[in-house]
Amino acid sequence: MWNNLKGRTGVPRRHLVFLGGLVTAILIGGVLEGGCMASRLERTSVESPDGKLVLGFSLDAGAPRYEVAYDGTVIIRPSAMGFTFRRLKPMMDGFSVAGTSTREFEETWEPVWGQKSEIESHYNELRVELRQNSSPHRRMNLIFRVFNDGLGFRYELPEQENLKDFEIMAEETRFAFAGNHTAWWIPADFDSYEHLYKETPLDLILAVNTPITMRTAEGLYLSIHEANLTGYAGMTLGVDKDKPLTLKSSLAPWPDGSRVKGTTPCKTPWRTIQVATHPGGLVESSLILNLNEPSVIEDTSWIKPMKYIGIWWSLHIGKETWHEGPRHGATTDNVKRHIDFASKHGIAGLLIEGWNTGWDRWGQEGAYDHVTPYPDFDLEEVVRYGKERGVSIIGHHETGGDVATYDRQIEFAFRLYREVGIDAVKTGYAGKIFPRGQHHHGQWMVNHYRMVVEKAARYGIMIDAHEPIKPTGISRTYPNMMTREGARGTEYNAWSDGNPPEHVTILPFTRMLAGPLDYTPGIFDLTFDEYKPDNRVRSTLANQLALYVVLYSPLQMAADLIKNYDGHPAFEFIMQVPVDWDETRLLDAEIGDYVAIARRKGRDWYIGCVTDEDSRTLDLSLSFLEADTEYRATIYADGPGCDFESNPAVYQIKASQVGAGTILKVEMARGGGQAITLRPSN
Ligand code: NOJ
Ligand code: CA
Repeated sequence: MWNNLKGRTGVPRRHLVFLGGLVTAILIGGVLEGGCMASRLERTSVESPDGKLVLGFSLDAGAPRYEVAYDGTVIIRPSAMGFTFRRLKPMMDGFSVAGTSTREFEETWEPVWGQKSEIESHYNELRVELRQNSSPHRRMNLIFRVFNDGLGFRYELPEQENLKDFEIMAEETRFAFAGNHTAWWIPADFDSYEHLYKETPLDLILAVNTPITMRTAEGLYLSIHEANLTGYAGMTLGVDKDKPLTLKSSLAPWPDGSRVKGTTPCKTPWRTIQVATHPGGLVESSLILNLNEPSVIEDTSWIKPMKYIGIWWSLHIGKETWHEGPRHGATTDNVKRHIDFASKHGIAGLLIEGWNTGWDRWGQEGAYDHVTPYPDFDLEEVVRYGKERGVSIIGHHETGGDVATYDRQIEFAFRLYREVGIDAVKTGYAGKIFPRGQHHHGQWMVNHYRMVVEKAARYGIMIDAHEPIKPTGISRTYPNMMTREGARGTEYNAWSDGNPPEHVTILPFTRMLAGPLDYTPGIFDLTFDEYKPDNRVRSTLANQLALYVVLYSPLQMAADLIKNYDGHPAFEFIMQVPVDWDETRLLDAEIGDYVAIARRKGRDWYIGCVTDEDSRTLDLSLSFLEADTEYRATIYADGPGCDFESNPAVYQIKASQVGAGTILKVEMARGGGQAITLRPSN
């Protein structure tokens, strides 16, 4: 691909090669004369610490290009970079290299919560400083960080005389893939990620949200996303009609059509390419977090992962209402009943939706009042009652998309929650954004979502955002940004044709690569015929349990009505399962067919397995267990005759003794699953 790709492991190298392969200059922190370089091809490269992933950078007649290879196989062919602006000349070509530098970085850090207790970050960085040859000689820097599990690159527009305020009309980043890979994706949408995944060849894609995940003919797995989305617009990818198998960055717009309004100096988010030889490599990767800054919250002791129940499912299935009236859900009495249940079962949180005025005016501007409770709801009293019983209330700010109103009230709204003693808030943006023309995923909203997280941090409040901006690893910097929706969650089963069984076998390899998901699992009454005979959850009960392991969230809901949990033997699993892990391993998977994930907390392991619409038996090796140790396995499995369509709730709980030598036979019904706890016997 380009000369002499691989060097000694761990030693980043760079080359500068003129067209024709002659090495005429090696840059050593060097500066090249501009002007005369434009017709030549300048190349440099950097590789991952293990030497397998190689990033090449070149100027093709002055136009920046990057390309990527893994273990000698080309992944990304030379792909364009740059910007077009309103009123300013584009920054796509006419460049010379003004300087390059490399460095190696290695650290191990401990997240406040997460899928593992220690995260290794090890990369080689290449920094390329570019300068346009013709006046006004604008400058742009490219930073590439190459890890063993993928890479990220970002643009920097440094402070400079001839580039101050700017409006980006298009980011010209391309991803020119090397083959017509199999891809799992949801369509591009500037307002929602709530779509079902499709599996198609790459050349059938028109436009997608990220993460988009692919399998190559050689069996490599790739996923494209972004990290540290700060002060910028969210990125979707559209096809480049002129170039085969090439996707192009397409940023969510402002109402005036511009994509990003900025001032130098500024940095873009990282464009990320995760690379793995098996699907587990994607799941176990921490690339997205590693491309974010360390926590800016010093005392994180108040940030606590937890399970929660809610006055929630009852609203979606129409048993109760958000708004006031005879079936109002958020009444003081009903809330107290829920607190009693949570307290008795060791569930730490209770979400209350429909507590504040405005729900009867859904969709109207100025509808929601985020500080005024309905008359039958006593906010102070329920918080006090909960605290006495070890249950904290999760507050709710539904904006209906009316961000203008929320912005005016937010200070008072957070202050109120702080004063009464609420430490976690679910936010919601269901509906078109006010002011009209703004998009959920545009720069204006990216800034809003961040402002909410920062403000919440100042008030000591954790955030669970629905209709959010997608996760890009911000939780590393703001660990109070716990979880979010940004996918078709359980709610869709209440009022649409629902999520097909394969949905949860794709999420771990797409949406979950970005960060935690508030999927709201745990429905036991899968048909809820009493309330909505035409809707159902297309899953078995054991599958619902397995989701607590498969779909990670530090705030994890037990979503069903508490009456469906009361006295139910399978609820024991939900009570036991942790929400914060020391270690995570993918045991087996075919994206879109099935997935088996194991997670460790202390010396205990939990396994979650789910399958699509086909029944399936997996032989899972437990070789990851401590050697010479007996474990007691408690297995929550689909029962005899179980089937997500005809008989979804039949389950069985089995116990056995297992060890590192055991091959566990995991039998799953159609739409089924299995949830397993493994505890050392001694
Ligand atoms: C949509 C959210 O996803 C859901 O969880 C919430 O109950 C409703 N909006 C109302 O806020
Ligand atoms: Ca939603």
